[in-house]
Amino acid sequence: MSATKFEKIPTKIFDSAADGSKAAAYEIASLIRMKAANRENCVLGLATGSSPTSLYDELVRMHRQEGLSFKNVITFNLDEYYPMQPAALQSYVRFMKEYLFDHIDIPKENIHIPDGTLGKGDVQEYCRNFERKIEDYGGIDLQILGIGRTGHIGFNEPGSGINSLTRLISLDHITIVDAASDFFGEENVPLKAITMGVKTIMNAKRVILMAWGEGKAPIIKRTIEGEISDSVPATYLQNHDNVSIILDEAASANLTRVKAPWLVSDIEWNEDLAKRAVIWLSQETKKPILKLTNRDYSEYKMVDLVTEYDSAHNINIRIFRHLQNTINGWPGGKPEGLSYKYGAEQPKPDKKRAVIFSPHPDDDVISMGGTFLRLVDHGHEVHVAYQTSGNIAVFDDDAVRFADFMNDFHEIFGLEKEVSNSIYKSITKQIKEKKPGDVDSPEVQKLKGLVRRGEAKAGCRYVGIPDKQAHFMDMPFYETGTVKKKPLGEEDIQITMELLNKVKPHQIYAAGDLSDPHGTHRVCLKAIFEALERLKNNNTKWLKNCQVWLYRGAWQEWDLEDIDMAVPISPDELLRKRRAIFKHQSQKDRPLFPGHDAREFWQRSEARNKNTAKMFDSLGLPEYEAIEAFKQYHF
Ligand code: F6R
Repeated sequence: MSATKFEKIPTKIFDSAADGSKAAAYEIASLIRMKAANRENCVLGLATGSSPTSLYDELVRMHRQEGLSFKNVITFNLDEYYPMQPAALQSYVRFMKEYLFDHIDIPKENIHIPDGTLGKGDVQEYCRNFERKIEDYGGIDLQILGIGRTGHIGFNEPGSGINSLTRLISLDHITIVDAASDFFGEENVPLKAITMGVKTIMNAKRVILMAWGEGKAPIIKRTIEGEISDSVPATYLQNHDNVSIILDEAASANLTRVKAPWLVSDIEWNEDLAKRAVIWLSQETKKPILKLTNRDYSEYKMVDLVTEYDSAHNINIRIFRHLQNTINGWPGGKPEGLSYKYGAEQPKPDKKRAVIFSPHPDDDVISMGGTFLRLVDHGHEVHVAYQTSGNIAVFDDDAVRFADFMNDFHEIFGLEKEVSNSIYKSITKQIKEKKPGDVDSPEVQKLKGLVRRGEAKAGCRYVGIPDKQAHFMDMPFYETGTVKKKPLGEEDIQITMELLNKVKPHQIYAAGDLSDPHGTHRVCLKAIFEALERLKNNNTKWLKNCQVWLYRGAWQEWDLEDIDMAVPISPDELLRKRRAIFKHQSQKDRPLFPGHDAREFWQRSEARNKNTAKMFDSLGLPEYEAIEAFKQYHF
């Protein structure tokens, strides 16, 4: 498909980050080998952050399994926080060692990473030297980049000039907010960084920028399709003559070729594209669907679509009805006697068993609290499976509060005081001595997990399910005590299968969220998909009458065209949902991991549900107070 009319940088879209990373790794490996064959150095510019991790995994694999040697490789890293000690958890020196350098045969002296330990007076000279070293090696052969939400490349924040070189810069507020969770709080993020300049990057002979996940979709669109401007430094790359952008599908979602492919080239219309196009046109023209005219369709290059369905009227009605049928106030199905209008409903049995998978202990109520309430109100047997303990998101002072409570509890009721007193003392001591970024002891981690468990149980009781229907899976992949998690393991999948086999649900609700900043939701979803796949292969009987609905996590809602079930929420239900969210006191007022939205979870969730309702309304569908949206997963 020719997207050149809109896209000013050559762009490749891969199914997944893993596939995109493999393509980049292959190019790097070929370059290293070609240079080695010519007895030349290969000078690589490297990035840190979440984007290149799977690239580094692949390079390490190639080194181990395919004998790829890095003996002739010279590296220059883009940046480092300032000030920063190399051994600190967030240091890019440490990052590079852990992800790449410790696992390959690169000579230590070939590695160059900006030094975060310098005195202020020494930085300028150091940066000049850094540039000189790059030149001495003949320039960077291939530069790897990620992109920040500000559009920064390296740490060249908005305002960076095209001629900027390696220097000390101040981090943009958005970048600081994004880094907050790595630093256990915004207040611990350094305000500055040493970064290669835009010119340093532009001088590289080849540049590959990688971006994954829907969080990057808006800035990727501006980078690839927008005007060159210092307010999005990545747009400078439009002037580089050997640059490629590698995306996964989620990061490409806002590109015109994906969002509105009919504007890019002639397309073969089908029902799904027609739905997307009509919703898009209605939003673009700000007209309800039933008021779209032949003229609107032709003005937006959609004449073929009208021809396909004979008239604007026909297509309008068709898509309108489809959307109308996604609205379903009976998520568990209507009881006997009431007519079914909703296509995806499972009529039997009337009373269903449902499992709501909640990656963290509060996603159930934040993301689908209204539907949870409805299912319970309608008499279905609802179970909630809390996949992880969520312990890293508990503030230290909350942990101390609960240890103190336990201590007083024992005293007041005359229980074995010594034990609780010694636990209390040890916990307060550990927390007092903890520095930002230090990992909690297993004892403190357990206590923090209990804080969240208690809140989740309170939430369930408020919604109206008994304690025995709240399941705490404590999936092992999560239990590292740090933001970085282990990969999904066999035990995680087994725990998921066991739970499903125990409940034998007719409905499964799971977080289909792809933009969770820490990736926990993605791993939790993978565990469910893998468990379902295996159960299916085992010919599991109950699975034949089981539907899977994906809700979005706290960060984003499904696009209108992706919604298969829209559950309307009344004003009273919205208030009850808010109260259920309030049971998660440790996440209230000031969550430890706010992501890039400063609002509290109940505020984000209400705004999002109200906004979905408004969007349905603006298409000309009924006006509800709020809507929770689901996409069906067919396995
Ligand atoms: C990292 C760097 C930054 C990141 C960008 C994206 O060395 O220079 O520009 O590439 O902030 O970060 P992630 O990949 O974590 O989303």
